[in-house]
Amino acid sequence: MITQPPSSRQIQFLFTIALASLLVLGTARLVLDNLKKSQSSFLQLLLGNAHQVLRLPVNISNEDVIDDGCNVFEGNWVWDNTTYPFYTEDRCPFLVKQVTCQRNGRRDSLYQNWRWQPNYCNLPRFNALKLLEVLRDKRLMFVGDSIQRGMFESMVCLVQSVLPDGEKSLKRIPPRKIFTAKEYNASIEYFWAPFIVDSTSDNATNHTVLKRLVKLDSIAKHGKQWEGVDIFVFESYIWWMYKPLINATFGSPHNVQEYKVATAYRLALETWANWIETRVNPHNQKVYFMSMSPTHLWSWEWKHGSEGNCFNESHPIHGSYWGTGSNLEIMEIVRDVLEQLKIDVTLLNITQLSEFRKDGHTSVYGERRGKLLTREQRSDPNNFADCIHWCLPGVPDTWNEILYAHILKNYQSKSNKLGPSS
Ligand SMILES: *[C@@H]1O[C@H](CO)[C@@H](O)[C@H](O)[C@H]1NC(C)=O
Ligand SMILES: *[C@@H]1O[C@H](CO)[C@@H](O)[C@H](O)[C@H]1NC(C)=O
Ligand SMILES: *[C@@H]1O[C@H](CO)[C@@H](O)[C@H](O)[C@H]1NC(C)=O
Ligand SMILES: *[C@@H]1O[C@H](CO)[C@@H](O)[C@H](O)[C@H]1NC(C)=O
Ligand SMILES: *[C@@H]1O[C@H](CO)[C@@H](O)[C@H](O)[C@H]1NC(C)=O
Ligand SMILES: *[C@@H]1O[C@H](CO)[C@@H](O)[C@H](O)[C@H]1NC(C)=O
Ligand SMILES: *[C@@H]1O[C@H](CO)[C@@H](O)[C@H](O)[C@H]1NC(C)=O
Ligand SMILES: *[C@@H]1O[C@H](CO)[C@@H](O)[C@H](O)[C@H]1NC(C)=O
Repeated sequence: MITQPPSSRQIQFLFTIALASLLVLGTARLVLDNLKKSQSSFLQLLLGNAHQVLRLPVNISNEDVIDDGCNVFEGNWVWDNTTYPFYTEDRCPFLVKQVTCQRNGRRDSLYQNWRWQPNYCNLPRFNALKLLEVLRDKRLMFVGDSIQRGMFESMVCLVQSVLPDGEKSLKRIPPRKIFTAKEYNASIEYFWAPFIVDSTSDNATNHTVLKRLVKLDSIAKHGKQWEGVDIFVFESYIWWMYKPLINATFGSPHNVQEYKVATAYRLALETWANWIETRVNPHNQKVYFMSMSPTHLWSWEWKHGSEGNCFNESHPIHGSYWGTGSNLEIMEIVRDVLEQLKIDVTLLNITQLSEFRKDGHTSVYGERRGKLLTREQRSDPNNFADCIHWCLPGVPDTWNEILYAHILKNYQSKSNKLGPSS
């Protein structure tokens, strides 16, 4: 029998075995990680007093927001080792060891030096002080799986350097992580909810990946804990993509059935949409939804005839590319559900720009089952590379630059509506 290359339809559910062992630990580190206390005293000297002079209204200029009509999701990665990275592993004491690829042995650091350049405009430069002013007395919450946790950590790193010690803290209260900027009374939070809706995988410190059961019509348990949040950033994808079918309930909690993933995903997103419509006040709350984060599990997709994965990749892909791991049917469902929502939810469609970044994953410089890979495991990238999660600093910083620009724009348009006197 001739073995044929698997078609993309079959492929997209092969995530799986590798995935299972990666996700199992999902948030074991929520409690396991020791928060490192070290903080650059140089930076502190430099910025120690900065916060005291910043009680002005936020001055948002046109350079801080995305030009009207510009699609920031179309563009390419350009080399920029003068402004990137925004921070280093050593300068951000809040990073967990899953993402500190340099410290974990990665030799090349080129992946930190690419700037996303939209085709017809520039991304505003991230300004932590402006963001903190906008977030004064507010809560920003990232909801989702471990990919979303990476985005949360990136945001914390982007913001924390302007705050002196004593003015910032990170608490772990599973399923939440809460970063607080004291003087601003602002919090940046993460909420573990891999399916967004309620499921049996919701224990942030001990969830099974293999036996998963999603409660497609139930979001109340999570929703209760989302009250009072001002800005939401939702994400959910990879946990659905384990097999073509997924066990779930809808209606009776005792009637477990196998659903097609797309069917289940749509039902769950509709449950979520209904929660948004009934619980979110669009006048003082804002909701963002992240499109799927791509994976780079099969190098034959970008390098014909090869048999590896993202391991040893050091450069972005140039030219058009879309991996089979980013399921277009799911993408359509996201589009449909967001279009039908009566409240304006902003989609941050980061899939394409991240597709190019086969070089950005943790590969063998991350963890498995809550532990850094051993030397033997590292030398076996075909079995042990993680081509799902991202190194930090890295690709999620760009997602946050885009989110930043949207948050400032939203703030600006709200202030304009209130008139010049406010
Ligand atoms: C706001 O910022 C712009 C550009 O950064 C600057 O030209 C302007 O003077 C600032 N306005 C105020 C009121 O600080
Ligand atoms: C930045 O990149 C350029 C071009 O690759 C290189 O010549 C230069 O040495 C780099 N600078 C730093 C600080 O790494
Ligand atoms: C701090 O922010 C919360 C909202 O996140 C608000 O309810 C509270 O009133 C604020 N505290 C002060 C002292 O302004
Ligand atoms: C995790 O939960 C499972 C059952 O849900 C239990 O058997 C196991 O002992 C738990 N593990 C820990 C570390 O508590
Ligand atoms: C989650 O699992 C841990 C470890 O098994 C357990 O100690 C904790 O009580 C669980 N949390 C909830 C909310 O059930
Ligand atoms: C659904 O659950 C049943 C019973 O635990 C199990 O046999 C089956 O493999 C599960 N289906 C999927 C798609 O995981
Ligand atoms: C990694 O890539 C470099 C050059 O790009 C090559 O020399 C090396 O053999 C590769 N290592 C592995 C293990 O494939
Ligand atoms: C996101 O962008 C991709 C192209 O980059 C497009 O194919 C897809 O339809 C977009 N998704 C949505 C929901 O608009």
